[in-house]
Amino acid sequence: MKEIIQLHDKKFRIMIPAEKIDEAVSAVAQRINQDYADKETPLFVGVLNGSFMFMSDLIKKIEFNNELSFVKLSSYEGTSSTGQVKSLIGLNNSIEGRHIIVVEDIVDTGESIEHMVRDLEARKPASIDVCTLFFKPGSYRKQLPIRYRAMEIGNEFIVGYGLDYDQLGRSLKDIYVVTE
Ligand code: IMP
Ligand code: MG
Repeated sequence: MKEIIQLHDKKFRIMIPAEKIDEAVSAVAQRINQDYADKETPLFVGVLNGSFMFMSDLIKKIEFNNELSFVKLSSYEGTSSTGQVKSLIGLNNSIEGRHIIVVEDIVDTGESIEHMVRDLEARKPASIDVCTLFFKPGSYRKQLPIRYRAMEIGNEFIVGYGLDYDQLGRSLKDIYVVTE
């Protein structure tokens, strides 16, 4: 792996190698396997684009029968005076009565995940848990419990393993952190 990479105007240095990520994904998958062993066909809902790589590795370690789907929060200019409106696209089938595990790349302030969970709750699932690859405890501002956190980091900006800096860096198998 490269020690330093350049994406757009910024330099990033290696922070978490692929092997460490794999260990963290295995650990969180093991917890989910235990907690969900007796639940009726849970549905994993990945939030695009960032969660695609995490979902791919996580789901291979899941030992119970499951279903998988991806959603996207699309922002568009609303016609109302409130301006920006975000809507959830991609969930075409009913999730009523289902056990949902939302799979996220990173929870920072919690704004996005709270929005996502509120939207899903309105569709009356049996339960919702959140599983995020990264959690930033220093910037989280919400009350919503984040049950599964594969790794916790400081308030630094990272890329790789699905996470991007202005769309670059998603394909990296290791995690890089921005340098000052
Ligand atoms: P939140 O709504 O503040 O929790 O931010 C969540 C979203 O911001 C994530 O889904 C990412 O798209 C983006 N984000 C937050 N921190 C990072 C980071 O360190 N690297 C890449 N994207 C990030
Ligand atoms: Mg995201």
